[in-house]
Amino acid sequence: MAMTGVLRPGFCQLRVLDMEKSMVHYRDRIGLDEVSQEKDGRVYLKARDEFDRHSIILRSADEPGMDCMGFKVLDDESLTQLEKDLTAFGVDVEHIEAGEQPGIGRRIRFQAPMGHIFDFYAEMEKSDKGPMVQDPHVWDEQPRGMRPIRFDHCLLYGDELDETAEIFQKVLGFQVSEVIRVEGDVINAYFLTCSTKAHDIALIRFPEKGKFHHCSFLLEDWNAIGNAADIMTRYDISVDIGPTRHGITRGKTIYFFDPSGNRNEVFSGGYNFYPDNPRREWCEEEVGRAIFYYEKQLNDRFMGVVT
Ligand SMILES: [Fe+2]
Repeated sequence: MAMTGVLRPGFCQLRVLDMEKSMVHYRDRIGLDEVSQEKDGRVYLKARDEFDRHSIILRSADEPGMDCMGFKVLDDESLTQLEKDLTAFGVDVEHIEAGEQPGIGRRIRFQAPMGHIFDFYAEMEKSDKGPMVQDPHVWDEQPRGMRPIRFDHCLLYGDELDETAEIFQKVLGFQVSEVIRVEGDVINAYFLTCSTKAHDIALIRFPEKGKFHHCSFLLEDWNAIGNAADIMTRYDISVDIGPTRHGITRGKTIYFFDPSGNRNEVFSGGYNFYPDNPRREWCEEEVGRAIFYYEKQLNDRFMGVVT
């Protein structure tokens, strides 16, 4: 697939209640690298196999949740075109100057009907701790913690779901890989991809706007999921569910919580998506198997606990 336009999820800025505890969680337990702590208090982190400077940003706040999710686009022309397309579709676009985060170029921003804020940017400095490129080893420094490969995707909850999914499809160039239908024809969940991943973002219907369900980190394989589970038990990390598997995307997964109550996921596997793939559809009766393939039923936390 020739990838143009929006390439991938690039960053996620999370609100945390206690930065010290959050750093133990994200840096020491998950195993992200600390990139910088800035004067405004925000802390920047990255996973080991990401070329760009940072991917996870933590901001101290009184309430947990997600400030914004950023997507990287191919180049500056793509960014200019994206702004034109969003404006033509009737979406209000805001400009964020280069440098609002360290090492990042200009961004365009819009607030989706679901309430979430999405940023798009073409430039980010390369990390000096990125993957090796000359005669590369599989890793440069020995991976720590849960050994995350990259920040992979977010699942977001909110109302005005169809309107938001429409922007992702008609303007941002995403395709829908899977949906969950309820009450006949109503779509309650969209899994959207801008790449060959099974999903780059997922959206689920919820009565309140702008809610954060989880951000996810890719791990190498099922053994790495087991290692992550050992770490969660050893350090008494609050686990939502897992290790288990999703029917949707087929990823192997654990959901757990950071010290502020934000949900994280570690996952591995899943199928490759191509633009000619038929859309996979799930009916209401099979939604348990869709989300948790082994348990075949949802838990109340998955549906109701969001930040
Ligand atoms: Fe996920």
